Amino acid sequence: MGTIEKFNENVMHTYGRHPLVMEKGSGVRCTGEDGMKYIDFGSGIGVNSLGFCDEKWVEAVCAQVKSVQHTSNYYYTRVQAEFAEKLCQLSGYDKIFFGNSGAEANECAIKIARKYSFDKYGLGRHNIITLVNSFHGRTLTTLSATGQEVFHNYFFPFTEGFVNVTANDIDDLRAKLDDTVCAVMMEYVQGEGGVNALDKKFVDAVYELCAEKDVLVIADEVQTGIGRTGEFLAGDHYGKKADITTLAKGLAGGVPIGACLANEKCSGVLVPGTHGSTFGGNPIACAGGLTVLERVSGEGFLDEVNAKAEFIRSKLAQCSEVEAVSGLGLMIGITLKNKKAPDVVKEALGRGLLLLTAKDKVRLLPPLTIGMKELEEGMEILVKILEA
Ligand SMILES: Cc1ncc(COP(=O)(O)O)c(C=O)c1O
Repeated sequence: MGTIEKFNENVMHTYGRHPLVMEKGSGVRCTGEDGMKYIDFGSGIGVNSLGFCDEKWVEAVCAQVKSVQHTSNYYYTRVQAEFAEKLCQLSGYDKIFFGNSGAEANECAIKIARKYSFDKYGLGRHNIITLVNSFHGRTLTTLSATGQEVFHNYFFPFTEGFVNVTANDIDDLRAKLDDTVCAVMMEYVQGEGGVNALDKKFVDAVYELCAEKDVLVIADEVQTGIGRTGEFLAGDHYGKKADITTLAKGLAGGVPIGACLANEKCSGVLVPGTHGSTFGGNPIACAGGLTVLERVSGEGFLDEVNAKAEFIRSKLAQCSEVEAVSGLGLMIGITLKNKKAPDVVKEALGRGLLLLTAKDKVRLLPPLTIGMKELEEGMEILVKILEA
C-alpha cells in the first residue's frame, strides 16, 4: 500500500491535502517521495521560519534531544530560562506562559483577561471583543472567539462571551465596548481571513478606548509574529504593544510551541493551580525557539526580510493577472483578476512550487531565510502560471 493510501485509511480526513508526500528538505527546497523537487513558498503555514532543517537549528534541537527531552513543569530547565529571557528582552514583555500551539496561547490570553477583570472588578465583565473575519484557533473557546460564522457549527454549545466588531469600523467598536468587556483581541494582519492588515486609525482607536476603560488589548501574533511582517512583532508597524501578545507558528522553527506574553499589568494574574500544560515549555521546543530568536534578532535580518518582501511585491505589481497585493512583509495575499486561487496552487504544485491560499487569495509565507536565487526562481514559476 502506498503512503497516501495507508495515511487515508488510518488518519481522520480533517484536511484537504495535496497529493505530495514530503520526504526531505533543506533550506527552501524539499523533495517528495517520488523524487519531485519543490520550492517552498508556504513554510508549513509560516512555521518553518528558517526553512527546512537549518543547520544550527538541527544542531540545537538534536543536542537538546540528547540531553533532556522532557522534564514536566515540576522542574526547571536552563534552555527554557534562556529562551524566555531572550523572548522577554526582544519583545519587551514581562513574563511568558508556554504552551504548544496558537490556540493554546490564545486560550491562555483569554483566561488572563477574564481573571484580570474578575480579580479587579468581580463578575459580569467577561466579554471579549474579537473582529469579524478573524481566526484564533480550533479549540471550542478559540472557535467561539473566531469571528467567522462558518466555524460556529456542529459543536454546540460554544463558549459564551465573545462579541464581534467589524474590522476597521471604529463606531462599531465604540458601540460594543461597554462595561461587560474585559478585552479586545485582534490580529494586526488577519491571516486566515485573507491577509488583511488593519488600518492604523482603527488600531489607534482600539488602544485609546481600551486604555480609557481598563480593557486589555490582546494581539494574536500567532501568524504575524517573529519577523514574519518585517518587524519583530507586527505591533511594531503600528507603534503599539498589546497587554498580551500570543505567538506560535514561526516561533520555534518547526517544533510545536505556543507562547502567551504578558506585560507587568497582567503577568501576575495566573497563579499556581490556575493554568498549566504537560508539554508546555518543552526543552526541545525551547532549543528550536532560541535558535530562531538568535537568527531573527541578528543584525540586518529584518532588513533582508523587508528587501525580499519588496522584491516579491514589485514582481507582482508588474503581473497583469494580479488585481491587488495585501499583507505586510513576507505575509502576502494576492487577489487575482480572473484565475481561481486553488487552481493556481494546484498548477504550481505540478511545477514544483508550494503555495497557500487564504479565502479567495493566493497566500505566500516563504521561509524568512529564503535566498534571492530561490525567490527569483519561485516568482518566475508563479508569474508564468498567473500570466498563462
Ligand atoms: C492568527 C492565528 N491565531 C491562532 C491560530 C491557531 O494556531 P494553531 O493551529 O497552532 O492552534 C492560527 C492558525 O492558523 C492563526 O493564524
